[in-house]
Amino acid sequence: MKAAFIETTGAPDMIRYGDLPDPVVGRGQVLVRVRACAVNPIDTYVRAGIVAMPLTFPFVVGCDLAGEVVAVGPGVDGLKPGDRVWGSNQGLLGRQGCFSELAAVDATWLYRTPAGVSDRDAAAGALVGITAHLGLVTHARLAAGETIFVNGGSGGVGSMVVQIAKRLGARVVATASHDAGITRLAGYGVDAVIDRRQCGDRDGFAAAVRAAMPGGANVWWEALREPDFDQIVSLLADRGRIVLMAGREARPTLPVGPFYVKEAVLMGFVMFKASWQEQAACAADLHRWMAGGLRAPIGAVLPLAETAAAQRLQEEGTIGRTGRLDGKIVVEP
Ligand SMILES: NC(=O)c1ccc[n+]([C@@H]2O[C@H](COP(=O)([O-])OP(=O)(O)OC[C@H]3O[C@@H](n4cnc5c(N)ncnc54)[C@H](OP(=O)(O)O)[C@@H]3O)[C@@H](O)[C@H]2O)c1
Repeated sequence: MKAAFIETTGAPDMIRYGDLPDPVVGRGQVLVRVRACAVNPIDTYVRAGIVAMPLTFPFVVGCDLAGEVVAVGPGVDGLKPGDRVWGSNQGLLGRQGCFSELAAVDATWLYRTPAGVSDRDAAAGALVGITAHLGLVTHARLAAGETIFVNGGSGGVGSMVVQIAKRLGARVVATASHDAGITRLAGYGVDAVIDRRQCGDRDGFAAAVRAAMPGGANVWWEALREPDFDQIVSLLADRGRIVLMAGREARPTLPVGPFYVKEAVLMGFVMFKASWQEQAACAADLHRWMAGGLRAPIGAVLPLAETAAAQRLQEEGTIGRTGRLDGKIVVEP
């Protein structure tokens, strides 16, 4: 099969596109003919060796896939050849990645793709949808009628957070800093969109947020990588929860006095530490919401042979903030 793989960690150019032996399905595994994959920032951290994962070389890169079952191993119930499936969590914690024509995946990490949802859309929404669900439901326990502020609502995760928060009945205020993101947030029915470019300095940003949610945020979702806790705490409602899920290098100061006097709560999480049972529960809700139109925005579709370019684009967008990336990058074998 053709695959995108590395033989050592390093820059995007380390990704080779070439032939590897077809994977053999083991017990409890499913062989998937991959029709679409999606790139996530974690793919680039694993490839670069920034996030240390146990890797077996040649290591096929990438987490998210959608496609069709071609064979099932012993002990697999509930999936059969011909079924359409999607999933995430490949290429992590010792598992091989899925940017390949065929992938042998533990059945526990696969979900049936709902009718009417394309492979592109299923792959694009995989990791980001599960992440948004875990953060909103499992961790922040967002309730109907609460106000959530999403700092970075136009990104892959942010787009899913705002759409799901609306479906959970919250009032949603979100930021973006480019035209397409602003338009998209308005289309999601976000209650107030803050264009970061219009805010001027730090004080201007705080004033815009305060005007959009005078009562403060019950939940502050920080999708950007450098939280400003002085500002966040000042814009929280009493007992507000701050959700952190980005910024491995960030070392901001926490204003302890204002934080505890507001009875605030700080929570962080990584999706790949959620069990397969927890993630399957997310998938069940995501399927219901997909039927109602939940989709991740797709900004680029590239062939599998261009996986190195796809990861470079992801790095430039998420870490370099060059502004060239808008929406998920889908890669198709
Ligand atoms: N903890 C976890 O489980 C978990 C899971 C997934 C991701 N993450 C992390 O969360 C962070 C966000 O991930 P992501 O997949 O959502 O990344 P992303 O799609 O690159 O989004 C990140 C932010 O980049 C900005 N952006 C996007 N397009 C832009 C453009 N054209 N011009 C300028 N800015 C643009 C957006 O904010 P603005 O428009 O407001 O600038 C957006 O919120 C990453 O650091 C990732 O590693 C963590």
